[in-house]
Amino acid sequence: MKGLILSGGKGTRLYPLTYTRAKQLIPVANEPVLFRVIRAIHDAGISEIGVVTGDTDAEIRAAVGDGSRWGVRATFIPQERPAGLAHAVKISQDFLGDDRFVMFLGDNVIQGGISALIEQFAHSDWNSQIVLTRVPDPQHFGVAELNGDGSIKRLIEKPARPPSDLALVGIYMFDASVFAAVQAIEPSQRGELEITDAIQWLLTQGYGVHAYVHTGWWIDTGKPLDMLSANEHVLDEIAPEVAANAEVAADSEVGRHVTLQPGARIRNSTVRGPSIIGENTVIENAYVGPYTSIYHDCTLTNCEIEHSIVLEGSQISGVPTRIVDSMIGRNAIVGRTVRKPKALKMNLGDYSNFWLP
Ligand code: TTP
Repeated sequence: MKGLILSGGKGTRLYPLTYTRAKQLIPVANEPVLFRVIRAIHDAGISEIGVVTGDTDAEIRAAVGDGSRWGVRATFIPQERPAGLAHAVKISQDFLGDDRFVMFLGDNVIQGGISALIEQFAHSDWNSQIVLTRVPDPQHFGVAELNGDGSIKRLIEKPARPPSDLALVGIYMFDASVFAAVQAIEPSQRGELEITDAIQWLLTQGYGVHAYVHTGWWIDTGKPLDMLSANEHVLDEIAPEVAANAEVAADSEVGRHVTLQPGARIRNSTVRGPSIIGENTVIENAYVGPYTSIYHDCTLTNCEIEHSIVLEGSQISGVPTRIVDSMIGRNAIVGRTVRKPKALKMNLGDYSNFWLP
C-alpha cells in the first residue's frame, strides 16, 4: 500500500498563524501535525508516501525532506490550487498507480493510529474503506447514512439537515477504482471536487465501500480551538520524558507529567503537567499550567500561562494576568513597557485576536 497526505489548502480558519506558515506544520505537543501523520502511516507499515502541496510547497518540502527521518520515501505532488480532496487524488494518479492507498488529511489527529484500519483494508476485497465518527455538529462535515446492517446508504457533504451524526474522518482508503470516480464527478457548488461525491459515485456504481466507526477521539485542527483541543488529547497520551541535559533548578517544582526537551531550563518556576517545554526554552519566575506546549527557543519570565500553545522563538515577560486558551505564533513578543504613556501597545498581524479580561 501507499500513503497520500494532503498538505495543500489555504488554512484560512487559522489566520493569522497560517499567513506565514503551513497549517500542517503547526505543532501539537511540540510536534507538527504533519509529522504525526507521517509517523502514523509509517507505523502502519507503509513506506511510500505522496505529499500533496499547495502555496506552502517549499516550506513543506523543507520540513519533510526525503522522509528518511521517519523511514519513508516522500514524493511531493504540487496542486496548483486547492480544488478539492478528490482533485488531489486525481493529480496523484501517476504516483499511486494501481496500488491500494490510504489518504490522510495532513491536519488531522486521531487517537490510536491507523495500523489496525490499514491491516483490515489491505487484506480485504473492498474497493474503499471510510472512517466515521459521531460528532455533535454533523452539518459541518461529510455525513454518512448507514443501513441497519452497517452498510452505507448514502453520503452527503455538509448537509443542512444531517440524516445522522456520523461524520467522515479525514482518513480514506481506496483501490484504483477511485480514479474512475474522480474523473466522473463534477465540481460542487463551492467549486471543489468533493471526495464524498467520489465515494458516493463508487457506492452508486456498486463498488464495495466499507464503513468503520471510530470510537476514540479525532480532531480536524482547522480552527485555533481545535488546535488547543488536539494539544490536550496528545499531551494526555504522551509518556513524559525529561532530557538528560534539561535543567531544573532546586527552587522549581516540575510535575510528573511534564516533558522537558533537550536544553530546557526551569528556574524559580512551577510547571504542572501534562505539558511540554521545548528545546533550549527558558522558564524563569513563571508558572506553566496544564495543557500547555511551549515550543523551542522561547523565554518565559515573570508570567503565568496555561492551556495554550506557544510557537518557537517567542518571548513572554512581565505579564500581570495569567494567559489562558491562547495560541502565540513564532518569534512573538508579549511583554511590558516602562515608558509612558501607560497604555496598551500592540503590533497585531491581520486577523489577529486580542482579548482583555
Ligand atoms: P480543509 O481544512 O478542508 O481546507 P483548507 O486547508 O483550505 O482550510 P480552510 O478551510 O481553513 O481555508 O483541508 C483539509 C486538508 O486537506 C488540509 O490539510 C489541506 C488539504 N487540502 C489539499 O491538500 N488540497 C485541497 O484541494 C484541499 C481542499 C485541501
